[in-house]
Amino acid sequence: MAAMTEKLQKLAEQHQEEMITIRRRLHENPELSMKEEQTTAFIKEQCREYGLKEADVELESGAVFLLNPEKAEKSIIFRADIDALPVKESTGLPFSSKASGVCHSCGHDIHTTALLFCARILSCIREELDGRVIFIFQPAEEVGKGANMVIKSGLFEKYPSQMIIGIHTWPETPAGNIGIRRGPFMAASDRLHITVRGKGGHGAHPHKSVDPVLTAAYILTQLQSVISRNVPPLQSAVITIGRITGGPAANVIPDEASMEGTVRTFLPEIRDMIEQRVTEIATHVAASMGADCTVDYHRGGQAVIGDDQVVARIEQAGREELGEDGVTYLETPSMGSEDFSNYLSVLPGAMLRLGTSNEIPESHFPLHNGKTIFDERAVIVGGRVLSRIAVDYLM
Ligand code: NI
Repeated sequence: MAAMTEKLQKLAEQHQEEMITIRRRLHENPELSMKEEQTTAFIKEQCREYGLKEADVELESGAVFLLNPEKAEKSIIFRADIDALPVKESTGLPFSSKASGVCHSCGHDIHTTALLFCARILSCIREELDGRVIFIFQPAEEVGKGANMVIKSGLFEKYPSQMIIGIHTWPETPAGNIGIRRGPFMAASDRLHITVRGKGGHGAHPHKSVDPVLTAAYILTQLQSVISRNVPPLQSAVITIGRITGGPAANVIPDEASMEGTVRTFLPEIRDMIEQRVTEIATHVAASMGADCTVDYHRGGQAVIGDDQVVARIEQAGREELGEDGVTYLETPSMGSEDFSNYLSVLPGAMLRLGTSNEIPESHFPLHNGKTIFDERAVIVGGRVLSRIAVDYLM
C-alpha cells in the first residue's frame, strides 16, 4: 500500500495543474439545469481522452462513464452534479462567469472537476484495480430532477454496484479538509401551498366579508407551533413560509389569499407528523374564521442519511490521503437538501464535504451567493480522496 500511496501522489501532482485549468474553464462557462450542453460535451471529450467507456444508458443531459467495464463483480459509483444557478456572479475573479445571470455559486464546477481528476488518476492505474468504477456526471441537481433521471435511465439495473459516493463543497470546512458525518447529513425538502378562500368586500365593512388575509395570518403564526409544540425538542425541523399573497388594493378584502413555504425534516415520522399537523391547523383555523382552505403538500427529496460503513470508508481514505487533521467531523447536518438522497433508496452510499474556506472573507460566504469564492484546493482534495476510496475498495 505504501507504494500505491506514492504512486497516487505522483499521479495527482502530475495532473493537478491541468485540473485547475479545467475547473476555471467550467467556472467561466456555467449552464443552468437541463441546459448543460457544453458542459456535457466537454466531460465526454475528457472521459474519452482518459480511455473511459460511456455507459449504455440514455440521458437528456449529463453523462455516465465506466472504468474497467468488464470487471463488473466489484463496482463502486462516484457522483458529481454539473449544473449552475440563476445567480449573478460578483466575485471579481479573472475567470468569472461569462454567462449573464448564471454562475457556479454552489461549486458544482468543483465537483465536476474533482470527479474528472479522479477518473484521470484511476485511468492510469486501471490494470491494478480489481473492479469497476462508475462516474456519474449528473445534470439538474438544483431543480431536484437529475438523480431521478439517472435512476430512471436503468443505470443501476444494468450496472449493479455496491455503493455510491457523492461530493459537495462546503464553505464551513477549511480548504484541504473533507467533512464527514454519520447519520443525517442533509434534510428532506417539501413544498407547501395553502389557499384560503373567504368572501371579498369593502375594506371599510369587514363584517360583511370573510377576510382570507387575516385568516392566512393566523394560519401562518399557528404553523410555527408545530415546530415548538409537536416536534420533539431534541429533533429538528423547519417550516418557513416565504411567500404570501392577498388582494389587489389596500381597501379591498379579497376572495382569496395564498401562501407558499418549505418544510425541512430528517426523520420520516416527523415528516409525516408535520404534513398532518399543517393540514389540520390550516383547515381548522380557516373553519374557525368562516373561511375555506386547501392545503397542497408536495413531497420533494428525502433526507440524505449516509450508510455507516460507507462513511467509515470515506473517513479511512480521507485520513490516508490528507492525514489525521485532514478529516473534519461535522457536528451538525445541514438543513439544505440534495437529490443525492434518491440514490440512497437504490443502494448504500454517503456524501462527503469538500472544504473550501481559507483566509479570504469571501470564502466564508454561503453557498448560492454570487460573491462566494471557493478555494480550488477542493478539486485536488476531492480527486485524491475519491481515488483513494476506489483503490482501498478495489485492491
Ligand atoms: Ni449544490
